[in-house]
Amino acid sequence: MCGIVAYTGCHEAYPILIKGLKRLEYRGYDSAGVALSQPEGIALYKCRGRVEDLDTLCSSKNCEAHTGIGHTRWATHGEPSTQNAHPHLSEDGKLALIHNGIVENYLVLKKELVSRGYHFQSDTDTEVLVHLIQDTLKNEQVSLPEAVKIALSSVVGTYALAILSADEPDQLILAKKGSPLLIGVGDNEYFIGSDGAPIVEYTKKVVYLEDGDVAVVSPNKKMVVMNINDNRKKRRYLQELEMNLDQLEKGGFEHYMLKEIFEQPKAIRDSMRGRLNVRKDVVSLGGIIEYETKMMNARRFIIVACGTSWHAGTVGEYLFESLVRIPVEVEYASECRYRNPLIYEDDVVIAISQSGETADTIAAVELAKQKGATVIGICNVVGSTLARATHAGSYTHAGPEIGVASTKAFTAQVTVLTLMALCLARRKGTISLSDYHQIINSLEDIPAKVEQVLKLNGQIAEFAKFFVNKTNAIYLGRGINYPVALEGALKLKEISYIHAEGYPSAEMKHGPIALIDEEMPVVVLATEQETYEKTVSNIQEVIARKGKIISIVTKGDKLVKEMSDYCIEIPETLELLTPLISCVPLQLLAYHVAVLRGCNVDKPRNLAKSVSVE
Ligand code: M6R
Repeated sequence: MCGIVAYTGCHEAYPILIKGLKRLEYRGYDSAGVALSQPEGIALYKCRGRVEDLDTLCSSKNCEAHTGIGHTRWATHGEPSTQNAHPHLSEDGKLALIHNGIVENYLVLKKELVSRGYHFQSDTDTEVLVHLIQDTLKNEQVSLPEAVKIALSSVVGTYALAILSADEPDQLILAKKGSPLLIGVGDNEYFIGSDGAPIVEYTKKVVYLEDGDVAVVSPNKKMVVMNINDNRKKRRYLQELEMNLDQLEKGGFEHYMLKEIFEQPKAIRDSMRGRLNVRKDVVSLGGIIEYETKMMNARRFIIVACGTSWHAGTVGEYLFESLVRIPVEVEYASECRYRNPLIYEDDVVIAISQSGETADTIAAVELAKQKGATVIGICNVVGSTLARATHAGSYTHAGPEIGVASTKAFTAQVTVLTLMALCLARRKGTISLSDYHQIINSLEDIPAKVEQVLKLNGQIAEFAKFFVNKTNAIYLGRGINYPVALEGALKLKEISYIHAEGYPSAEMKHGPIALIDEEMPVVVLATEQETYEKTVSNIQEVIARKGKIISIVTKGDKLVKEMSDYCIEIPETLELLTPLISCVPLQLLAYHVAVLRGCNVDKPRNLAKSVSVE
């Protein structure tokens, strides 16, 4: 949610900023801007639209500078416009500031600043920050870093900030609270990013700023980090950035989303590597070893997450309840926080997030910790806020996910949840040895089965033509495939803008059936064995009302196949593992429908990859 990039050093800043912004664009893409330190003062270029538009604008400008800041925006306060684009300038034009986060008390601050003669150029919450800092500089007669610290102490909300000053042209001031900010340390130069994407090309040595940190960097000088909470200098250690440049490229695919769908066999294998050893009969997750006993004895698991991660968590509910035999509640993280939930010290909260920066999920984690629960994270981005906020956890090893629509993160999350459930069930004795063997053997075969499904890409692209002019769709699934139906519907709606809803198959007759007519595509997951006959009846009910059936069946299925207008056959596996396979055709279907409708698949409207505001 908003991407921040900054550079100071001996190289030209602009190419580094613009490349960084292109890599960060998945965090927001409604406007973009840069501010550059030049001998005459700060040069500011910004515009509504994509980073590419900014680059075009800048092509006719003087962009020479060795220090600069850049921003790509996802609008919260104020519509997407050039005026509201960052950076924002102070009244005297000597400070430029970029921000990711939300200033919750901006109206109060704004009123105060207006009364003191400051003029606002935008409708953003961010602009108060730059005026507030200038005002503090003027009134307190302190250095800029001090002024930033003082100003931020009256700010309520979240921020990652980078500030450029005309008076200290090669210096950058950085600050973080609640939104991520990394400093890449090069050879007498510094690269700043909201995440590692704009940094990894230049250095893998990074410092993760912590909440309350205010850092000062200038070339040829040691970084200084202070914290506004205790006003002391802080030592922040260098860490290795776990990211490769080639993971950030499209690798010959037309879109990141398609590349990431095709990366799923690898993502699942990587998430199992070193954790599942079929030959030795072992499932073990290093990250939670110390907490295994606590988890086995949990009164209850509460899974908190948002969006696709919430769907993975709902698959987890089926896995944990059936294997570990401990009750599970799956909560939308955003709901959990504001309803004063009953969370006890012997509850184990599992927080799931691809980015590890989702503000709602992090808020739920903090709440759970306050209530004394043990919090386990499942997260893809190493070193992210979630990874650091939880007591322990397991990373998914899906690699960077750039497409806004989450795909490989989902299968990697479900893989880790399956491993966790197996590991706990084995220790707790809630699974028989033969079931355990059967599941771990089948799990090992999943990546190869996903590869088989990916071979259906061409067939699914053909089926997608049927959806192009549709306005609605229903997705039905049962048992552990119900969350897959939800996920399939989410994929379709977020990238193709076709309204889609997921339901448990049997719920259709309690309302949604009223929507069915000859125009309504109904996607049915019909792999479930125990309820197969019931699903067949649900399909009949759709057909009787002239709805169109697109079914996902187990290879060899005849009955449902014959009843379907379009049928996708997926390889057979154990019921509990089907989500890892059955989600893939739904991802491909959504992808091809969106492409056929001319939608921007990787950057769907109004969305951002990392939702770091509540
Ligand atoms: O990074 P997270 O997994 O915490 O993100 C949660 C949701 O914002 C995310 O899954 C979102 O729903 C995706 N756009 C789904 O494709």
